[in-house]
Amino acid sequence: RLEEIWITVSVGILIVFMIIVGYQTFALGMGPPSHKEVIDPQKVDTTAPFNNPGIKEIGDNEFEVVMTLQAFGFTPNSIELPVGAEVHFTMTSKDVTHGFQIPGTNINAMVMPGHIQKISHTFTKPGEYLVICNEYCGIGHQAMSTTITVK
Ligand code: CUA
Repeated sequence: RLEEIWITVSVGILIVFMIIVGYQTFALGMGPPSHKEVIDPQKVDTTAPFNNPGIKEIGDNEFEVVMTLQAFGFTPNSIELPVGAEVHFTMTSKDVTHGFQIPGTNINAMVMPGHIQKISHTFTKPGEYLVICNEYCGIGHQAMSTTITVK
């Protein structure tokens, strides 16, 4: 009798853990990148929202920047944003792994082909921000950059 109770309790605990892990992995998106949103890199140009890259105002002083990265540039290539706005970058790569780094801020993301990378930032100081690729992506890697103008 006592053994039966212990077996039931152990199995019960195991099931609870499995449910928690399953929930975290699938519902909260905490799993490895392969479980996150993935699109065919060849079809980035025809897959929303990347079929229409650019800056969209999505709320009160809130913007989304949909961006594609490809050897060796960023699309859109020049971005203008108001100072103090909440900015959400949604990015993917059309070919190989690129980087998205803005020196002087804490923005430093890896953008992998077909994987959707999201990063939010508020530029609190006006200026010209240099955006660089910090993942070696081929012979044009050194020249892969763009600017974000905040004013
Ligand atoms: Cu893109 Cu280095």
